[in-house]
Amino acid sequence: MEIEEKSFPSAWTMDFFRHEIYNPLSHFLVATLGKTVVGYIVFWVITDESHVANLAVHPDYRRQNIGDIILKFAIHFSRSKGARLITLEVNEKNIAAIALYGKNEFKQVGKRIKYYENRDDAFILTRSL
Ligand SMILES: CC(C)(COP(=O)(O)OP(=O)(O)OC[C@H]1O[C@@H](n2cnc3c(N)ncnc32)[C@H](O)[C@@H]1OP(=O)(O)O)[C@@H](O)C(=O)NCCC(=O)NCCS
Repeated sequence: MEIEEKSFPSAWTMDFFRHEIYNPLSHFLVATLGKTVVGYIVFWVITDESHVANLAVHPDYRRQNIGDIILKFAIHFSRSKGARLITLEVNEKNIAAIALYGKNEFKQVGKRIKYYENRDDAFILTRSL
């Protein structure tokens, strides 16, 4: 929750995380350094599509390749479960995340207008698996 609240203006609540844990389509990966949780990714694999629902790295541990490692894990895991496409939404102003996804061969296929609570637009990105 600390990472989530430090990472997003409209953070997922504890209840939302609990609900996700019981969603059979939802997969969680937590990155740890020793006993410290430093990041996580949540993604859904639904038949032949995967969707990244959440990804964050603790601000003190960013730029150490952790986001890249957990995103690559989600890509490989989704492929191994039969997904052929991975999708996500990203705030159009989120330079760091857009660069991370670009480095991992995601391409912009659309835009959701005023997608976020603060009315920012989202880019829809996808990558074939
Ligand atoms: C986006 C986020 C997960 C990246 O995590 P990270 O562990 O810092 O990223 P990495 O160190 O693995 O960086 C991998 C690549 O992402 C890009 N990147 C990461 N941070 C960046 C930044 N601040 N500015 C520009 N590019 C950045 C770079 O291409 C980088 O590759 P490089 O180091 O070879 O240049 C992290 O900044 C974060 O948690 N942000 C807040 C939450 C968020 O926006 N989540 C995504 C929602 S869609």
